[in-house]
Amino acid sequence: DRRYRIAVIPGDGIGKEVMPEGVRALEAAAAAFGFTLDLEWHDFACCDYYARHGQMMPDDWKARLDGVDALFFGAVGWPDTVPDHISLWQSLLQFRREYDQYVNLRPVRLMPGVPCPLAGRKPGDIDFWVVRENTEGEYSSVGGHMFPGTDREIVIQETVMTRHGVDRVLRYAFDLASKRERRHLTSATKSNGIAITMPFWDARVEAIAPEYPGVTHDKYHIDILTAQFVMNPQRFDVVVASNLFGDILSDLGPACTGTIGVAPSANINPDGRFPSLFEPVHGSAPDIAGQGIANPVGQVWSAVMMLEHLGEAEAAAAIMGAIEATLVSDNGRTRDLSGSASTEACGKAIASLIG
Ligand code: NAD
Ligand code: IPM
Ligand code: MN
Repeated sequence: DRRYRIAVIPGDGIGKEVMPEGVRALEAAAAAFGFTLDLEWHDFACCDYYARHGQMMPDDWKARLDGVDALFFGAVGWPDTVPDHISLWQSLLQFRREYDQYVNLRPVRLMPGVPCPLAGRKPGDIDFWVVRENTEGEYSSVGGHMFPGTDREIVIQETVMTRHGVDRVLRYAFDLASKRERRHLTSATKSNGIAITMPFWDARVEAIAPEYPGVTHDKYHIDILTAQFVMNPQRFDVVVASNLFGDILSDLGPACTGTIGVAPSANINPDGRFPSLFEPVHGSAPDIAGQGIANPVGQVWSAVMMLEHLGEAEAAAAIMGAIEATLVSDNGRTRDLSGSASTEACGKAIASLIG
């Protein structure tokens, strides 16, 4: 009935600053396109909550989020007070796993109005998707730490790949590629050095490729792939990668298109059994937090991805149009885009153009 329950989790640092702008856009879109949002703000999954409770989230967080249609998330982490591996494993990474959000979908798109650090590129030249495996791989809690503090200290952290886990993200990526104009999939590997898991990844790509006869595919080792992102970004269409490689590529890609401040992501549970989570690619940016200068576009674009996921395509397109118009306007660009707009001014400019 076009009524959506959304858990709103701003998190830390600039997450708290960009979230109101994401919500401003959502509310403008709801008003213009006639759907209802029940926004439920949560103060957990942030380091202030940890300071008060000694953990990032309440024990009953799942019950509190029960039945939500999606999570709208800012950024988490405040390394001065909580070590990053604790704050992230007890929040974002827990959501991804508990809600089986096995696809992390991240666009890389050169937008009009955004200065490109690569010479001679114009909007349209760079337009591809990174499909990142989001629940296993290099991000694992399998390992051990022996003889800590001694000269015999040993640390081990295993990469975990399952056939189920690899196949399902590869199929998602092939399927996405099959719906695009160029229908090309690039796989990130490192099977020359990482000699067990990565040859397995490559073999699964080859095993699944015949299911998608209309899609061409190739692969690059991650080292040269990063170089190709910089030298030949126009050659990519859909890039599929393991958890860590996808993490790296999805900061590098947006950096090649001007700023990580505009980059959104969708952490998707494609079978719909659990809610999906939408967040900017960037983190809490302690270096600029509290100044009101963070670029809110990554958060707002994440709202676009969320509305697409919820089936509100028209509203999503309207917000996207408002983002594009704001990025080419004189007063809407934040400092990372060599403008002078505040976070709020950029967010208000976008919201005023919706509908
Ligand atoms: P970061 O993305 O927070 O910041 C990297 C650089 O980009 C900084 O110079 C920052 O000022 C700039 N930047 C980031 N977002 C921006 C925006 N919207 N507008 C303008 N400039 C922006 O990465 P980091 O410094 O490695 O991490 C800081 C904290 O955030 C850590 O605790 C880290 O673990 C966490 N983190 C969280 C997420 C998440 O919640 N999804 C993602 C990445 C990092
Ligand atoms: C991201 C972030 C997270 C990740 C961190 C904060 C754990 O960098 O969403 O890209 O590595 O997945
Ligand atoms: Mn990252």
